Amino acid sequence: MIVTVIILFALLLSWVLGCVTLSRRHPEPIWDWESIDTSDISFPKRFIWGSATAAHQVDGGNDNNNWSRWEQSVDEQGKPRVHNGDAAGSAVEHWDRYAADIKRMREDLGLQSYRFSIEWSRIEPRQGEFDPDAIAHYHDMIDAIIANGMEPMITLHHFTNPLWFEDLGGFEPEENIEYFVTYSKRMFEEYGPKVKRWCTINECGPYAVMGYGLGVFPPGVKNLQRMAVVLYHLMRAHTAVYDAIKAMPGGRDAEVGLVKNIFQFDPHKRWNLFHWALCRLADGAYNQSIIGYLQTGRFRVWVPGVAKLDRSHPEAALKSDFVGLNYYANLILSIFMKREPPFEPHAREGQVLTDMPYAIYAEGFYRALMRLKPLGKPIIVTENGIADDRDDRRALWIERYIYAMSRAIADGVDVRGYHYWSLIDNFEWAEGWQMSFGLYANNRETQERTLREGSLAYRNIVEKWSSDA
Ligand code: GAL
Repeated sequence: MIVTVIILFALLLSWVLGCVTLSRRHPEPIWDWESIDTSDISFPKRFIWGSATAAHQVDGGNDNNNWSRWEQSVDEQGKPRVHNGDAAGSAVEHWDRYAADIKRMREDLGLQSYRFSIEWSRIEPRQGEFDPDAIAHYHDMIDAIIANGMEPMITLHHFTNPLWFEDLGGFEPEENIEYFVTYSKRMFEEYGPKVKRWCTINECGPYAVMGYGLGVFPPGVKNLQRMAVVLYHLMRAHTAVYDAIKAMPGGRDAEVGLVKNIFQFDPHKRWNLFHWALCRLADGAYNQSIIGYLQTGRFRVWVPGVAKLDRSHPEAALKSDFVGLNYYANLILSIFMKREPPFEPHAREGQVLTDMPYAIYAEGFYRALMRLKPLGKPIIVTENGIADDRDDRRALWIERYIYAMSRAIADGVDVRGYHYWSLIDNFEWAEGWQMSFGLYANNRETQERTLREGSLAYRNIVEKWSSDA
């Protein structure tokens, strides 16, 4: 009897101590917004203000990549892969309308940087064949950005693969990395003289997790070990492209970085050790695997019984001239939650929801910036924004998140720029056309863009804090 009591007491004590230690180490601050003046902000002189898009989401006519095929396919139950059976289709015709879009982001909003992605399947529609028209298109686009007094920021890979590359297995076989390097080198050869900032890969985490873990992005695999392998190869691809560019003429002067999405995983109940265990495992696989690799060259994913990968490449450490941060939200996990998105619960009591299944939580943006601080690299916010079709929360989002960023800068984080996601409403991957992230709304029948009221909050901040204002 006494032994049982002692064991139970020891278990209880470890449970409590475990929760207390984890809570201290991973706080989930909630700020008192009532008492915060979000206009109390300050930015360094040369801070860059911009906005971002990605080719497949805005271009139109991208029908030679893994996403266009995915959009036409159905799952095992015959259900379309994308919400509502949507497809990117002609999208917002940015391919043809980029000149006006660029002009308006400068004239209406005073932006200084435009982050966009190059569609690999247009540049290299068949393996080894580079399309001169597509290459010329991006020259024109870059020239237009520069002519409007802005800086181009290129993303080489933003979720889409040319079909030929996808059919070779994408990033799953390690030997395929070299195809991505060949294309990237070609792009740097073309545009390197005009473009200083380069993002190698957008969000390795979501690409691997959604495509190979949860199966909601192409190729629809649900296998955590394969997910870990793909994630690892994406990191290796980043390093390989980084090294390749640095070895090219002009490469030393270019700024080449990885774009990391951070979602924090917070336990639904902070007194529940199981919730904590889930969060720490998720964080290890999704965040720490990548941050650790950038910091030391060691890549490690471990999910007991389902995924294990541990590789060390010390020479890869710190190979990112800046870190691109995409930040949207924290995710609240519990052991009884559904195993597929949208995960629940979406928010803490009292928090305001976005149209995506997560809340406005600017404190998380501050946390994400602080987490990247030890890397000692400049940070450029490459994406941050809200899906808000009613446009009744956009201004609040902008003011709070930019306030949180300013607070992180005051606390010593070297943030150099911010890109609002997104310039225009666009095709939101598995969510299809239902999410309105744009500073501009878009009428898909007429392709008419309208600046949203809520976006004026961004314009005001840019006006006040841009160096060329
Ligand atoms: C990011 C992604 C963007 C955009 C955004 C909004 O993960 O890089 O392309 O979709 O999310 O959810």
